[in-house]
Amino acid sequence: MTQRIALVSGGLGGIGTAICQSLAASGHHVIAADLKPSDERIAALRALPGLIEAEAIDLDVGDADACAQAVADIVSRHGRLDVLVNSAGITRDSTLRKMERAHWDAVLDVNLGGLFNLCKPAIEPMIAQGYGRIVNISSINGQTGQFGQTNYAAAKAGVHGFSMALAREVAAKGITVNSVAPGYCDTPMVQTIPAAMREKILEQIPVGRIAQPIDIARVVDFLAAEGSGYITGAMLPVNGGLFISF
Ligand code: CAA
Repeated sequence: MTQRIALVSGGLGGIGTAICQSLAASGHHVIAADLKPSDERIAALRALPGLIEAEAIDLDVGDADACAQAVADIVSRHGRLDVLVNSAGITRDSTLRKMERAHWDAVLDVNLGGLFNLCKPAIEPMIAQGYGRIVNISSINGQTGQFGQTNYAAAKAGVHGFSMALAREVAAKGITVNSVAPGYCDTPMVQTIPAAMREKILEQIPVGRIAQPIDIARVVDFLAAEGSGYITGAMLPVNGGLFISF
């Protein structure tokens, strides 16, 4: 059987690393794309069990030309691209009153623009091979909004809208497009929330803990599987019951 080739943006980040590990464990050849991956971070990725075959590439998902080139390189080296996971994301939290236009642009460019920049080149080889799985990482804060996150919430809600629309466009070509909406996960992004706020959030989570990256990654791996071809345009929430506690 042909080995499936998977590209994970933000692949050296908190959730992205776990996604790479899960996809590798289920037999994918994984390419982790991230901003200026240091030798240390690449070594840490390769040291994870099952990830000896993983590659890391330097990619800014906000750069459309670089994304098109990265996809073209992967297809020329591996002959195909089966799975695309858009996991690259940033925060620039502040109330709208204090938010600078640059902080709006940065979050929209990466968290939503990155989907345009990678999905557009990726769907061409997927259509040609009649197979593809695209999984986009959204957020519970795209469902509920969050104080100080007009930029992030708008982008993450947009991730789901984008996924549903693209799902319709490529459903008949063997390609599924879904989003996953994590709650609060134990990553550097969430660790930067002031401790008192984190405590308040934790109190609201019915399962009584924040997510571990693997809690999210296993759902991505499920949606990326060949057997998940009848799931498209869906959003899978993985939030420990936080959504139902509001
Ligand atoms: N709800 C309601 N009011 C709030 C509030 C909240 N959550 N947080 C603060 N306020 C109030 C304050 O009490 C204060 O009121 P007064 O003016 O009456 O004193 C006012 O709003 C201003 O608050 P701050 O002084 O805190 O404003 P700030 O500009 O200094 O800080 C902030 C704003 C940076 C957004 C800060 O509130 C913050 O860090 N919030 C956390 C945001 C957050 O949860 N981000 C999630 C990151 S993780 C992630 O995004 C991953 C994922 O997908 C889940």
